[in-house]
Amino acid sequence: MSDWLRTPFCERFAVRYPIVQTGMGWVSGAHLTAATSAAGGLGILAAVTLDEDAMVGAVAKVRARTDAPFGVNLRPDQPDLPRRLDVLAESRVPVVSFAGGPPAAVIERVHAAGLLCVVTVGKPRHAEKMVDAGADALIAQGGEGGGHTGDIATTLLLPAVLDVVAGRVPVLAAGGFADGRGLAAALAWGADGVAMGTRFLLTRESRVPEAVKRRYLAAGLSDTLVSDAFDGMPMRVLRTEAVGDLTTRPLLRRLLEAPRQAAQVRRITGQSWLDVVREGLRLRRREGLSLERTARAAQAPLLIRSALVEGDDVRGLLPTGQVAGAITDLPGVAELIERIVAEARRAGVRFTGVESGVDA
Ligand SMILES: Cc1cc2nc3c(=O)[nH]c(=O)nc-3n(C[C@H](O)[C@H](O)[C@H](O)COP(=O)(O)O)c2cc1C
Repeated sequence: MSDWLRTPFCERFAVRYPIVQTGMGWVSGAHLTAATSAAGGLGILAAVTLDEDAMVGAVAKVRARTDAPFGVNLRPDQPDLPRRLDVLAESRVPVVSFAGGPPAAVIERVHAAGLLCVVTVGKPRHAEKMVDAGADALIAQGGEGGGHTGDIATTLLLPAVLDVVAGRVPVLAAGGFADGRGLAAALAWGADGVAMGTRFLLTRESRVPEAVKRRYLAAGLSDTLVSDAFDGMPMRVLRTEAVGDLTTRPLLRRLLEAPRQAAQVRRITGQSWLDVVREGLRLRRREGLSLERTARAAQAPLLIRSALVEGDDVRGLLPTGQVAGAITDLPGVAELIERIVAEARRAGVRFTGVESGVDA
């Protein structure tokens, strides 16, 4: 007997269900991550927005709440990555996830520290590159998601990535998933599971302020937009008051605000001034950003933080997947995961004819 919901991803990552809660800056803290992993999914702690001490503290908090596997989301180009990987290895964290494509040397470093490496991709050729570089699983994220990985729709990206990967590593579908019908559909395509961000942001365990959660819940399917006006790269946000202001704010004002904002980001993420300057130069060089765009990039993390942590849903930015428009409730994480699994099994009946989801 085999259960079609127990995919190779479940075996490889030692989780009960093929459901990942993705790393979300300011959102997927210890509480949410632990709740997801304890409920049988793979929770991922967002650590790009934490300094090293805060990351260590959050990892300990997850560990105190559950023995189940969980991951930590980092940026492949963050200057303190080698040290952080050592710390994670010492804490026996089993998984690291990256949104940007890490070079093979970084993946080797992750493996040397004894961790599995999950990479989010938005194009088939990125998928190919990441499998060749040694990634242990891929998240194929369509344009319905946060926007950073490109605009190819999930329905087209997923089969293309699956073709390119050809079963070499598990592939999880992301961008636009919120329920068990989506999970069943992803498995029907040949994926190994789903990864979801916005759906987990809208749970009881997510610490996003209630008023901000209500703002997400009130959104319809057309209430998001993708723009590169916020941090220089395409990012999807809820269409709120702040969006108009940011896209029209005068250049001089932005430039004057940038150093103070960079100082605040530095304090929160534990970067040195040298790191901040290098980061600004890297953005200008690699992304070809103008001075104005570089100033915007300094501002975006604070605007996101002011909404997601401090609850300012008028001036702050609310990153989101398009799927916010399809979500109307705030379940607990365990209830959500069980519901998704039950819905997937029911959906599966339509094409397997098997009631329980267990395929004899
Ligand atoms: C509020 C928010 C913050 C996010 N922060 C990060 C992050 O820090 N690192 C990252 O790799 N992806 C980040 N993402 C992208 C998600 O991890 C995930 O890829 C995306 O939300 C999936 O699409 P969905 O929202 O349609 O499920 C963020 C997404 C949201 C909504």
